[in-house]
Amino acid sequence: MTFNDPVLDPVTAAALARFYADSGVDLALDDAPHDRLGEARALLERAPAKPSEPPRLEAVAPAAAVHADSAVQDAKRLAAAAPDLAALKEALNGFEGCLLKRTATQLVFSAGVPGSRVMLVGEAPGADEDRAGEPFVGRSGQLLDKMLAAIGLSRAENVYIANVVPWRPPGNRTPTLAEMAICEPFIRRQIELCDPDVLVTIGAPSMQTLLNIKDGILRARGRFYAFDTGKREIPALATLHPSYLLRRPEHKAFAWRDMKALRAKLAELPTTKN
Ligand code: URA
Repeated sequence: MTFNDPVLDPVTAAALARFYADSGVDLALDDAPHDRLGEARALLERAPAKPSEPPRLEAVAPAAAVHADSAVQDAKRLAAAAPDLAALKEALNGFEGCLLKRTATQLVFSAGVPGSRVMLVGEAPGADEDRAGEPFVGRSGQLLDKMLAAIGLSRAENVYIANVVPWRPPGNRTPTLAEMAICEPFIRRQIELCDPDVLVTIGAPSMQTLLNIKDGILRARGRFYAFDTGKREIPALATLHPSYLLRRPEHKAFAWRDMKALRAKLAELPTTKN
């Protein structure tokens, strides 16, 4: 049953809407559903691959691969040309290479104090952030604020916060590898322009994109890795995402250890800013 069903009564329609929302489907992009898996299968059948070779991504979705590649090139050019954070935000607002922009309400660029000693980078905005235009303002953001407050940090005073992907993926899904690759030049430039003493990646997608770590987050968290900002090498700490901690509160002890490691690292490094 779908909303296109001509005999859908209001009670059933309301129940169906609730079912969709609970399943993470909170945005209607088209009147009719698309069978994306079927489309990919059909393309694959038409692609001239030798039977002994595994299918290549370009053969399955040639248009998407070409789009992603040229979008990454555009993103690199625009990000490198931005002389400061305001110009970078403007460049992102004018960038059409990431299709998430079309379904998001607005760009979610940053929160906190630019130029802080600590910069945190999450994955992508959720529904609350999409509405507010600010990263980490929902339930997970409130937990993040508490974690930071426990070591004397706050977005009002001494941290700067951004995301790898600055537009909300529909239904709060994890951004795809292509979406993260397209947005990566912008977040790297944002880090370079913010020039923090310590970078903190929040959750696995941020850690994998920025630190190029393939290990699982539970294994890789709590350690400092060298990160080249473009200006200098700084320590980068991988930690757990607060939305994961809301689902698995028994792992909060790991996050607390990470926060203490961050506090110790800040105490050890020379202070050049707030
Ligand atoms: N999760 C993120 O990774 N970023 C946000 O801004 C909000 C939730």
